[in-house]
Amino acid sequence: MHPPRRRARRPGPARPSDGRPPVGRLRFLTAGESHGPTLGVTVEGVPAGLPLSSDELAVDLARRQRGYGRGARQSIEQDRAEILGGVRHGRTLGSPILLLVRNRDFENWTRVMQVEALSEAEADELAAAVADGNKRATPVTRVRPGHADLAGALKYGFGDVRNVLERASARETAARVAAGGVARALLRELGVEVWSFTAEVGGVAIDPARATRPRDVADASPLRCPDPDAEAAMIARIDDARANGDTIGGVFEVVAHGLPIGLGSYVHWDRRLDAALAAAVMSINIVKGVEFGLGFEQTRRFGSVVHDVIEGRDDSGRWIHRSNNAGGLTGGVTNGEPLVVRGAVKPISTLARALPSADLLTGRPVEKAHYERSDISVVPAAGVVGEAMVMLTLADAMLEKFGGDSLDETRDNLARYRERIAGPPADAVRAGSAVTAESGSGGDD
Ligand SMILES: Cc1cc2nc3c(=O)[nH]c(=O)nc-3n(C[C@H](O)[C@H](O)[C@H](O)COP(=O)(O)O)c2cc1C
Repeated sequence: MHPPRRRARRPGPARPSDGRPPVGRLRFLTAGESHGPTLGVTVEGVPAGLPLSSDELAVDLARRQRGYGRGARQSIEQDRAEILGGVRHGRTLGSPILLLVRNRDFENWTRVMQVEALSEAEADELAAAVADGNKRATPVTRVRPGHADLAGALKYGFGDVRNVLERASARETAARVAAGGVARALLRELGVEVWSFTAEVGGVAIDPARATRPRDVADASPLRCPDPDAEAAMIARIDDARANGDTIGGVFEVVAHGLPIGLGSYVHWDRRLDAALAAAVMSINIVKGVEFGLGFEQTRRFGSVVHDVIEGRDDSGRWIHRSNNAGGLTGGVTNGEPLVVRGAVKPISTLARALPSADLLTGRPVEKAHYERSDISVVPAAGVVGEAMVMLTLADAMLEKFGGDSLDETRDNLARYRERIAGPPADAVRAGSAVTAESGSGGDD
């Protein structure tokens, strides 16, 4: 006789019907401005007992800073996340985790970004800097086409676009990547690995047949690209953009291996994992489209060549698909194949050869929009942010399904579930209708 199955103590989130966010899952909230003293993030819902160190978090933060086409800011910052809460003696406590990523550049912006109200003397000092033509101190009013400047300033009633751009800036994504590192540590313990690469820049795409670089070599290359020939052409496109005072976009691809079948659900729109992942990737400031697997290309082909033929369950209990055009999700549920998500990155909107625009205060056209030190192309960095958003979403989905106040409990729940789905579904077993390959149905012999 089998021992009675223990239920997970925390099998998933309570889903209140009043629109409040579900409780008991992984959540995070960032704070901080681009040139302010620090970025911060609180990560809540991580089970107790997870090994975590700031050295580990530094790896992805450094990856986010790299990439051919990035601007001078990256040579100033050397991002590290200080862990200031939720961890003791190298292991999580189950309490909220507080991380700080300091902005080194703040020392060049202390008066402009001062948190305290300006004294009369400090206000005079700032006014004198403006009179001297100090660009940092001068209020920004020539709004940049393609940036958050105009809509943000009007929405919040700001006469200085600095109040918008400081937060709309993707510097905030350093805090997301720090939080993503926590999710990576959890997912790794649960057998899930996530990485990304640059798939396209300025219309130059990798050729899958030539994308032969091993993962670590691709990751260390200038554009984090697995196809060396395509990468050389991509670099040439970035150089062209730079020479013309222009910017250029592209596509990154995030891949997750080791996910169990059954994360997410088809029963409600807001429980579909594809929807949650699309929102997470789309939330990255600069991403303008999201695809899974074959993506939009599916619309151009017949169903017979699109849908992933299901070969059956192998001896280890793994379900095999002949292809993975769906990108690892069907019905909003993981299907056991690798998750493949792509994000479309638009060209950066701050151009060295600034576009014509208008002045926020006068409403009159101006010859050139505001320019401030900027990146030219950020596809590899956006890919690392994409990984973070995917990992945070997947960690949340794992905790929704497997719960657990401690890592051991989460791991046990996952292991029991994996065991259960390695055989016929439970209701078929109960009804006595389960057939096995040995009984002659579904097998070759
Ligand atoms: C890693 C990364 C770096 C970025 N660097 C810049 C930059 O240097 N200059 C800029 O204008 N936009 C940059 N962006 C994009 C802007 O933050 C973004 O375009 C802006 O917030 C408006 O949001 P939207 O593009 O989603 O409409 C960057 C985005 C990412 C993900």
